[in-house]
Amino acid sequence: MGRIAKLPPEVIRRIAAGEVIERPASCVKELIENAIDSGATRIDVDIEDGGKKLIRVSDNGCGILKEDLPLAVERHSTSKIKSEEDIQRVLTLGFRGEALPSMGEVSYLEILSRSEEEDTGGYIKVIGGEVVEFREAPRQRGTTVVVRELFFNYPARRKFLHSSRVEERYIRSEILPKLIAYPGITFSIRYGKKIERYYSGGIEERMIQVFGREFFTQCAGFFEEEDDVRVWGFVCFNPEGPLKKGFIFVNRRNVWHHGIHSLFSFPGYIVFIEIPPEYVDVNVHPSKREVRFVKEEKILELVERGLRRLSARTGEGERKEMPEIFTEDLEKLWQLHGTYILAETKKGLLIIDQHVAHERILYEKLKKGKVPSQRLLVPIVLELSPHENEIFKEMLPHLERTGFVVKELSGGTWVVEAIPAVIPSLSPEAMREMIDDAIREGKTRIKMFDEALKIIACRGAIKAGEKLSREEMKTLIEELFSTSHPYTCPHGRPIIVEMEIREIDKKFGR
Ligand SMILES: Nc1ncnc2c1ncn2[C@@H]1O[C@H](COP(=O)(O)OP(=O)(O)OP(=O)(O)O)[C@@H](O)[C@H]1O
Ligand SMILES: [Mg+2]
Repeated sequence: MGRIAKLPPEVIRRIAAGEVIERPASCVKELIENAIDSGATRIDVDIEDGGKKLIRVSDNGCGILKEDLPLAVERHSTSKIKSEEDIQRVLTLGFRGEALPSMGEVSYLEILSRSEEEDTGGYIKVIGGEVVEFREAPRQRGTTVVVRELFFNYPARRKFLHSSRVEERYIRSEILPKLIAYPGITFSIRYGKKIERYYSGGIEERMIQVFGREFFTQCAGFFEEEDDVRVWGFVCFNPEGPLKKGFIFVNRRNVWHHGIHSLFSFPGYIVFIEIPPEYVDVNVHPSKREVRFVKEEKILELVERGLRRLSARTGEGERKEMPEIFTEDLEKLWQLHGTYILAETKKGLLIIDQHVAHERILYEKLKKGKVPSQRLLVPIVLELSPHENEIFKEMLPHLERTGFVVKELSGGTWVVEAIPAVIPSLSPEAMREMIDDAIREGKTRIKMFDEALKIIACRGAIKAGEKLSREEMKTLIEELFSTSHPYTCPHGRPIIVEMEIREIDKKFGR
């Protein structure tokens, strides 16, 4: 007998269900998305025990025809798409026909619904994948779905669920993006005995309901539109402000997109991208969280432009006030092993890595194109392959803004006559390395340019081991705190380590 055998169908079904439903929060997400797709203007959510005991989502949407109820809990049955072409222009959040059957597989699932076309509703109950009850039942227009005892028949999964408090946190982080993206829907959410209500209104009202009154004192909006693409949103300039995370919504679907996230230098922001559905592929990942764009370059450019104009308007991200954390006008400074700067603060001590601090300063200067150039005594000659040449040409206008002066001799041969004055010198090898790294690291033109800037900033920055005068240390710290991100370097490494005097006292047993 062979060693490979087909798994029993119920095991296959349970494995598939486990891919869609990972924890109570995934049920909440799927059920709210179904309610949104049904055109509801009101959604009520009940959570008990972090969703482990009960999840109930009710809506006043279009409802499900009674005869369709058994199909709704059957795998790959959906009313949202009919053919393969439809996947290319999905406007609904769901399209796979997998959410309800998956929940039915691993919980006690009940659906009570009445469609707008029918006088009476229907009720269906599924336990561990089997329909155990199906009958007529009264209800007003809309749908209620109840999920009880999630993973009751899947102990391996049940065991990995966290405490109710932690599961509730996962649920909140699934609900939050829906509150942001659908201000027109009234939500009422009950966690045990606590009820939270969000009334329908405009986006501004919703932001205040969700993030508090201070939202508009600490966040500013941007808006860009070109042809059929519209990009808008909010950026929070205060890292301690109400918005601490970045959200991207593509046609109101909350997604992850590395390229867009990397354009923001503040931790808190919301971006809404509205594009014709055929420009997005939502079918990239089973959880529908990743998307691909047909016109990615254009979208990235619009977001970047929006941010640039926002900075120009608000001055934010440009110059920041020196925080009043230091003692004696920043006079108490020491250099440690020629590598770290120690600065006394009111609360204790800052340890600053001089190289990465300078790297951050140069990176931001280069990005703003505010650096003079210096002529090279011996120009650098570059020979590029046709592929490299194409990319280099695209990067050129950006490089020129940062102080490079480059001329093309013939196809693929370039002479670099001047470089940004912030880099003391640049060898032909280093220039090549910069282009190679930019091409390797950057997936898009903007990312490549960004990589190039990081490399230039790194090369130009003062090195560990370089002795600095008190005046130089002071200027460095002042310039560091005028950047948008004094605490992390462009590569994401920490620049500053803080030690409070309390911690030091504790070490001495004071
Ligand atoms: N709250 C609801 N109101 C109206 N119809 C609903 C509701 N919930 C589910 N349905 C119907 O049941 C069908 C199956 O729902 P299910 O969530 O399993 O799949 P889907 O939403 O089509 O796709 P996905 O698996 O991507 O969520 C839907 O296509 C829809 O017709
Ligand atoms: Mg669905």
